[in-house]
Amino acid sequence: MQSTWLSVLASYLHVIAVATYLGGSIAMEFVLGPAQKFIPPAQAQVIGQKSADKFLMLVWGSLILFPISGMLLFFAIGDQHTVSGLQFFTTTYGRTLFAMMFLWVVLVVNGFIITFVYRPVLNAKASSKGGSKQVNSNLEKMQKAAKNVSLITRIDLGVALFIVLLGVSMVYGNGIL
Ligand code: HEM
Repeated sequence: MQSTWLSVLASYLHVIAVATYLGGSIAMEFVLGPAQKFIPPAQAQVIGQKSADKFLMLVWGSLILFPISGMLLFFAIGDQHTVSGLQFFTTTYGRTLFAMMFLWVVLVVNGFIITFVYRPVLNAKASSKGGSKQVNSNLEKMQKAAKNVSLITRIDLGVALFIVLLGVSMVYGNGIL
């Protein structure tokens, strides 16, 4: 492995993206989430909304940084000869890199679902229009959306932890798949 300024920069950016994505998800899910249970629901909802909106910006920043720094890493230190042509699927390194990229797509799809399907539901302003039936149905929708966001965040966490294992296995060996 040659240590050029490009490989240092690429590795630095890739690790910063991992730290932001993984550290942020752990803090949101296991620190902020449980703490919200100790404050009144209306305030918890505002804090949840504001922090999630800000955190989503960090998530998208990391998701964009992953392929840019990953490609730089690949050209700076990757085993390019093991992934040319069909070797992408016949070498351990190629399969591991392919899995890393595929799972990144899974994180992106989940990011889209949270941002464009569930965030609008959670950010909808509470309104008393339509009477108590409508208010209750909106509340139910919000609770369901919050539950689904939490489930997807946990799935993303598991996926991201597995991708880190793939990355480390490529840096310190030939991959694991
Ligand atoms: C399209 C997306 C991605 C590409 C193209 C990519 C590519 C790469 C490459 C080429 C390497 C270096 C392998 C080597 O040393 O030969 C690497 C390492 C690594 N990747 Fe990715 N990656 C991507 C997404 C991700 C994601 C989403 C994560 C984590 C959530 C991740 C975590 C890591 C880690 C932890 C390492 C090891 C870094 C180190 O120890 O320096 N990668 N990646």
